[in-house]
Amino acid sequence: VADIIVVGSLNMDIVTRVHRFPAPGETLQASKTQFSPGGKGANQAVAAARMGASVVMAGGVGNDSFGVELKETLATSSVDIRGILQQSDTTGIADITVDENGQNTILISGGANMAYSWEEASSVLKQLHLFDGCKIALFQNEIAMQTNEDAIRDLAKRGVRIFYNPAPAIPVGNHCDVFSLIDILILNEHEAEVLTGVKVEDDSSAGYAARKLLTLGVGSVILTLGSKGLFYLDKGGMEIEMPAFPVKVVDTTAAGDTFIGSFAAAISAGKPVGEALQIGSAAAALSVMKPGAQVSIPTRADVDSFLTGFQQD
Ligand code: RIB
Repeated sequence: VADIIVVGSLNMDIVTRVHRFPAPGETLQASKTQFSPGGKGANQAVAAARMGASVVMAGGVGNDSFGVELKETLATSSVDIRGILQQSDTTGIADITVDENGQNTILISGGANMAYSWEEASSVLKQLHLFDGCKIALFQNEIAMQTNEDAIRDLAKRGVRIFYNPAPAIPVGNHCDVFSLIDILILNEHEAEVLTGVKVEDDSSAGYAARKLLTLGVGSVILTLGSKGLFYLDKGGMEIEMPAFPVKVVDTTAAGDTFIGSFAAAISAGKPVGEALQIGSAAAALSVMKPGAQVSIPTRADVDSFLTGFQQD
């Protein structure tokens, strides 16, 4: 029985390191390019599993070597891959460029991720009893919106808590009604701006954006603010501000995913929200110190020793 089901994307990340980002029309020499497993869904699944949760991944890959490699990486991290279905499209690709400051730009070709439908998936998942007993489901925006909505409705009806990371962000538009099924909305300042129109620059704009997001009907909001830390607000009025751990940033790719997966694992293990936020934030801090997506995600032992070391300083 899995604690957490992730319904989301798997991508092969093609990561190119540059001194600075090229301007439109400009050609630059890059320092190197590497292929490494990613995709927001798969990254979150790996983060939760490395924190000790039992996790099942539901998503689509193509009939190609990237699909095989992505499944193998998840399986190596103890993620149950029986919910991953082979689609007729090619495996998703993310073209990532990382500059000297560790900042990135990402272009995604969804491929098999976009072909994955809940109608097809749910019958396989049900047959294998893969969501029996699941406590939490994690969603992002790298699969078809229809699949997200169908799966959110189905899983919420079964009493599974829904954590939604609307990344990459799309305006709320006519997806309004699913928000009332969301238990925790987890997003960064850019995503919050797309959803609310509020530019999140300081504590007061973070509070304002979070309050606007609560009016969509979600139970709570976590705004992840990079080096500025995070802001939590729930509909009961509980508010938590947490600074980020000061670390040297090498590559921020998958920092948000690491936070979300680790946070969800901590919640599923029964930790109180404040402690789960701290665990997520420590895991994200460790992830930005290493290049790559899944390769940079820490284990529970790494996070525990980081937190112990930090408390002693
Ligand atoms: O959040 C990071 C992820 O976004 C990368 O692994 C890439 O695949 C893109 O989906």
